[in-house]
Amino acid sequence: MMKMTMKAIVTTKYGSPDVLQLQELKKPVPKEDEVLIKIHASTVTAGDCEMRRFDMPAFLWLPLRLYFGAFKPRIKVLGQELTGEIEAVGKSVTKFNVGDAIFAPTQMALGGHAEYICLPEKYAIALKPQNMSFEEAATLPTGGLNAQHFIRKGNVKKGDRVLINGAGGCIGTYAVQIAKSMGAEVTAVDSGGKLKMLSGLGADHVIDYTKQDFGQLVAAQSIEPFDVIIDIVGKGSFARCVKALAPDGTYVMGNPRISGIIKGWAIGLNTWQKVVAAIAPYKVEDLNRLKELAEKGEIKAVIDKVYPLEHMADAHRYVETGAKAGNVVITIKSEQ
Ligand SMILES: NC(=O)c1ccc[n+]([C@@H]2O[C@H](COP(=O)([O-])OP(=O)(O)OC[C@H]3O[C@@H](n4cnc5c(N)ncnc54)[C@H](OP(=O)(O)O)[C@@H]3O)[C@@H](O)[C@H]2O)c1
Repeated sequence: MMKMTMKAIVTTKYGSPDVLQLQELKKPVPKEDEVLIKIHASTVTAGDCEMRRFDMPAFLWLPLRLYFGAFKPRIKVLGQELTGEIEAVGKSVTKFNVGDAIFAPTQMALGGHAEYICLPEKYAIALKPQNMSFEEAATLPTGGLNAQHFIRKGNVKKGDRVLINGAGGCIGTYAVQIAKSMGAEVTAVDSGGKLKMLSGLGADHVIDYTKQDFGQLVAAQSIEPFDVIIDIVGKGSFARCVKALAPDGTYVMGNPRISGIIKGWAIGLNTWQKVVAAIAPYKVEDLNRLKELAEKGEIKAVIDKVYPLEHMADAHRYVETGAKAGNVVITIKSEQ
């Protein structure tokens, strides 16, 4: 008999990885316009850990706290992205068939850390790249969509000198590859242990941020200023990034703070430089563009570790060490 429940990792309260519990939840049933996805793989991102701890930028803290649950998590299952197979479709669904292998972000409803999820067919859902495994394709939505958006906001062109700060993580590894596929000269900045991997992805230059400051290297004229700086981590000083820019360069803040948005607006009024706060919209055409890039061999997944769903707390602990290179993938083996 078909099981009416599913395994899921539930965030019981905000806090350390110990708050994550394996529970049996009701298996979702698709509404008319929804698809039921049997999830094969998901990931644990820095964003999942931030949501679990509820560690949010000041200007987003209140609206996000109201959305995620004021006193305890209302959105109980994390997991921002997934791959899997369509198991059932609602009556009015026309774009997908049972058995289609797909990849998708879960968007604000989350829910990737479970055996099943229902998503409306109009959400950003696309057929999985044929040359990627489920584990590999699970890394594409968050990293790939954000990387693609940041590069678009930077208006990266062939020959541009592009610096990617925080290049060794889930967004950065795709940003390096997409910028290279567009013919940019890429400088990747991250900690020393990730630089060999970044050179392997095609980065022309690498900088270990624990040893050298790219702002000081530009100020000392040891390296040329950059046409585009994509700052994924947003931990360094705003002024350092702006000073390392060419006179008409663009600084893309992937992790914007309110102070940076205000300073960026003032810079845009007084110089030819542009400062952009980027928050990626999730669109099906962008997923299809990632599928195309993957199938052409221009981007590949960087997977550091793979954990089964049942070992979710260990996966969170590992991501929080900061040692993660690229992505941490979760595999979900269904008993049904
Ligand atoms: N704007 C948006 O729409 C959006 C969307 C998704 C995520 N985000 C945010 O973007 C941030 C990064 O996401 P991610 O998933 O790519 O994170 P990630 O996978 O953890 O990667 C971040 C990388 O940055 C490196 N790093 C840390 N401090 C650094 C510094 N001072 N200078 C240079 N590199 C540094 C880390 O390496 P070490 O730990 O070895 O130093 C790591 O390799 C998160 O805070 C996330 O919430 C924004």
